[in-house]
Amino acid sequence: MVVTLREITDENRAAIIALRVAPEQERFVGSVRDALADAARYAHAKPWCRAVYAGDEPVGFVMLSWNVSPRPPDVIGPWFLWKLAIDERYQGRGYGAETVRQVAALVRAEGATQLLTSYVPGDGGPAGFYRRLGFTPTGELDGSGEIIVRLALSET
Ligand SMILES: CC(C)(COP(=O)(O)OP(=O)(O)OC[C@H]1O[C@@H](n2cnc3c(N)ncnc32)[C@H](O)[C@@H]1OP(=O)(O)O)[C@@H](O)C(=O)NCCC(=O)NCCS
Repeated sequence: MVVTLREITDENRAAIIALRVAPEQERFVGSVRDALADAARYAHAKPWCRAVYAGDEPVGFVMLSWNVSPRPPDVIGPWFLWKLAIDERYQGRGYGAETVRQVAALVRAEGATQLLTSYVPGDGGPAGFYRRLGFTPTGELDGSGEIIVRLALSET
């Protein structure tokens, strides 16, 4: 299935807000509705949001801080994967990994040398997912105590 990242518009917003992770995953990521509210509220964090599609089916949501001036511990950057969620029904099919690959290619094309993200540690959380993709801990924590990891982006 071809994965694409599409803008969120009046036409698809309701379908994206309706996407859900599993109940036991909710402690690792908030809802899409909350993420869009955060994007509106923290404009200084330079939010960049996209819907993840598999073919013509909306399957997930991704949000970055796009080339932001870092102000740790609350604003991490310049290139920070802020939210990533694949709907429960569509997990385990490679869509999350493909989303991260596409985001990495997009920001590398903008001159990024590393993509940062953070996660809540815990059983059933995304630590292993990011490790498999090549993210390594920076040794720092964000303002909420989340573990910050980085993916080095090669220049080739
Ligand atoms: C984490 C998440 C984005 C992964 O998306 P996904 O589409 O299910 O993952 P993929 O199918 O692309 O998996 C890619 C690889 O990571 C592995 N993987 C996926 N989730 C994993 C997890 N929680 N722990 C360890 N490994 C994991 C897969 O087995 C796969 O490995 P492989 O390449 O060896 O086959 C998704 O499960 C999700 O939305 N979870 C809830 C929200 C969340 O935690 N978001 C991230 C923090 S903001």
